Amino acid sequence: MVETIQWTPDGVVMIDQTKLPRQVVYVTCKSYEEVASAIVDMIVRGAPAIGVAAAMGVALGMQQADASRLDQEMERICARLAGTRPTAVNLFWAIDRMKRLYATLRGKPVEEIRAALAAEARLVKEEDIEINRAMGRHGAPLVPEGKTVLTHCNAGALATAGYGTALGVIRAAIEAGKKIDVFADETRPFLQGARLTAWELQQDGIPTTLITDNMAGYFMRQGRIGCVVVGADRIAANGDVANKVGTYSVAVLAKENGVPFYVAAPVSTLDLTLAHGDMIPIEQRASKEVTEVFGVPVAPEGIGVQNPAFDVTPSRYVTAIITERGVARAPFEESLRALAEQ
Ligand code: MRU
Repeated sequence: MVETIQWTPDGVVMIDQTKLPRQVVYVTCKSYEEVASAIVDMIVRGAPAIGVAAAMGVALGMQQADASRLDQEMERICARLAGTRPTAVNLFWAIDRMKRLYATLRGKPVEEIRAALAAEARLVKEEDIEINRAMGRHGAPLVPEGKTVLTHCNAGALATAGYGTALGVIRAAIEAGKKIDVFADETRPFLQGARLTAWELQQDGIPTTLITDNMAGYFMRQGRIGCVVVGADRIAANGDVANKVGTYSVAVLAKENGVPFYVAAPVSTLDLTLAHGDMIPIEQRASKEVTEVFGVPVAPEGIGVQNPAFDVTPSRYVTAIITERGVARAPFEESLRALAEQ
């Protein structure tokens, strides 16, 4: 399986997701600033992968930090990484985890602090793979046998430390012997579906059909889609789900057509401090992502553009939320809190 992100003696190595699938190249981030830029530029993307990158960024920054002022250095490094992308809560979860560990290490020899932070960052990665496999075990029984699963964006190995959340559920269903295939929305404007989901499923020999985003309703109405499984960037206390823009439209179509709509996400994607999804900050990205396709202009110069990277799906459209601790169903206030407190 593809290695999305690795901690190495040379730095943090990432597969460059802006180049896939035409080129499989790796970049080595040699400083925390380079890790931060890689997150902003989407060399690494997907909520859990961003969390792993942030943890590794903190650890890398602290390897190089001025040993005489570690507290201030830690603050500066964490602030820079926290300022990269606002929506995926896994970023803030990972930074908080590193901060909490650092608080227990203060006053210890600097080499010990550095080693502990590096070990923690590697642990965040290893745990993520285990979490995805557990999510797969919980989610696989929900996937209908012999049917097509529709997914949006990329919530796969590339969006995590490995195996994936939504694609992890699909992988687990196949490993359990289910005969299913996948329809992947291309996911304009960044084409995570066309470039990343299509590529990683094809690598694994999972039967996959690429469709444009606006075809999802056509196939649902034909009865072609057995269920939808997507990932999430942040889930509010009431079960509202922020995920890649276009997810909301898919969820509404799914309800209209009687198709179950599942969200697969680790507990670290829950943000129970937010009562509902309208409180989730939505990242606005550069207009060029909309007006250009791979650097080629496709719209008239000077046109007004909106480019929200995520949307919020109200929980009434969500059939169930699959986590590593079990499956939550409505009423989500209670079911999510119970999972978070486990
Ligand atoms: O902008 P991206 O590519 O980081 O957005 C990714 C998504 O929206 C994913 O669906 C989400 O992070 C879940 S990834 C397991």
